[in-house]
Amino acid sequence: MLEHIIERTNDFLADFPKAVRKKKGQFFTSAETARFMSGMFDLSGCGDSVSLLDPGAGSGILSAALIERLFSEKTGIRISLTCYETDPDILPLLKDNLEYLKRESEGRLEYELKAEDYILSQDWEFSSLADTSRKFDFIIANPPYLKIGKDDPRSLAMSDVVHGAPNLYFLFASMSLFNLRQGSEMVYIIPRSWTSGAYFRAFRKYLLSEGKLRRIHLFVSRSKVFDAEQVLQETMIIMVAKEARCPESALITSGGSGNDFSNISSLEVPYHAVVSGNELYVCLPASQAEMEVIRKISAFSSTMPDSGLRMKTGIVVDFRQADELRTAPGEHTIPLFYSQHIRDGKVNHLPSGKGYDWILDRKRGLIQKNKNYVFVKRFTAKEERRRLQCGIYCPHDFGQYEYIGTQNKINFVDKTDGSEMDRKTTYGVYALLNSTLFDMYYRILNGSTQVNSTEMNSMPFPSADIIRKIGEKVLLSEDLSTANCDRIIKEVASWRRC
Ligand SMILES: C[S@@+](CC[C@H](N)C(=O)[O-])C[C@H]1O[C@@H](n2cnc3c(N)ncnc32)[C@H](O)[C@@H]1O
Repeated sequence: MLEHIIERTNDFLADFPKAVRKKKGQFFTSAETARFMSGMFDLSGCGDSVSLLDPGAGSGILSAALIERLFSEKTGIRISLTCYETDPDILPLLKDNLEYLKRESEGRLEYELKAEDYILSQDWEFSSLADTSRKFDFIIANPPYLKIGKDDPRSLAMSDVVHGAPNLYFLFASMSLFNLRQGSEMVYIIPRSWTSGAYFRAFRKYLLSEGKLRRIHLFVSRSKVFDAEQVLQETMIIMVAKEARCPESALITSGGSGNDFSNISSLEVPYHAVVSGNELYVCLPASQAEMEVIRKISAFSSTMPDSGLRMKTGIVVDFRQADELRTAPGEHTIPLFYSQHIRDGKVNHLPSGKGYDWILDRKRGLIQKNKNYVFVKRFTAKEERRRLQCGIYCPHDFGQYEYIGTQNKINFVDKTDGSEMDRKTTYGVYALLNSTLFDMYYRILNGSTQVNSTEMNSMPFPSADIIRKIGEKVLLSEDLSTANCDRIIKEVASWRRC
């Protein structure tokens, strides 16, 4: 059945080029991915009569894959399928395909095709306190990936899960969790972006409190997921069960290259290691080595703010402050630091290549005290070896200045209350951020190349006295290398809870 529907979809693709479909967030799932997704459901508790939902059904590929599996493993099962789809170009094909599936099922399938907006047609139910809406036993989806405005009626309809820039994919996933019967499962193929970052905080809170991540599949090659479609998105598949209690573990699989699921490795990971912290970040370890990193980091029981420390973002947006910038030192000028000044664990003030390495000291909002800091680059290139690149800022190297400036492509660690960090703490923070452990953890946590201070501030971190002990040893050793930081952290932390 699935092959027939794929063939008919390929004919459709020939008439509607990618550029046209991109505007509608329309990309079709390959047969292999659709089979893999339908294979993720646990059918052991499945009754004789089940309801299926496929929101944003396209040509019905995912419905066909799941129906095929249900018919082959549960003979005699009766299926009631609901599909939502709004695109008038694909609706006739979807209708034909659903009719075809019905004929093939010999009376075991009935369907309802809702040619209406999946979000707007249910906004009242979603926000209603007394929920009497219909619930489904299985939901399978490849939702539209489309950024929409904050004032879009669909964002307003689901404002509880929107924080910052909304995207249809997570509105769909939230609505599906709402549509799911308690104890049932949904399988979604979605981008990886939601697993960290502030924009997705409200969505994560909803998804991971109402539901629990049972299975995750990570694609190794991001270019081949929608092979014919050539979509360049970091994509993942999740299986979420609607349940309140946290399971002991989640199963993470990875490998294959889009359409080849034959070579997959799997890892059973403690649930709290996958979903962690107040922000409910989703950590995605793909190997035993990455698991070990999470285990060690989870042993740290504080965060930087617990120890009175905070990572902040550099203050000066240079292109907006052109009048304040200077090319050379002079009266009332102070050094302005860029990420180019972070090198070999230290901070220098050699010519940055930016042209303007100095700033006037007259605006209080653009300057900060010349005192101990740890500087961290906010942006690194994908091919660079480390995501966390930091340096110790030593105020005595620039002793003639009371204030300095930092460009906003630097993050810096400071005391929360603005007082000065002592030297041991400064060196301890540096050693931790410069270690292999924290660099690996940050990569697992955040797929992007940007170092986000909100994430850093909610990351597990050793307590204040352990930070100082580490700093003391680094100071004594006079060696800022990553190898030395790794050795000292191992010696001091010893992976008890600290
Ligand atoms: C990424 S495509 C996936 C199609 C199909 N599920 C598949 O896997 O091949 C998403 C589909 O959602 C449809 N869509 C977009 N916005 C929608 C909405 N608000 N309500 C219902 N369907 C929508 C698009 O027309 C598109 O066909």
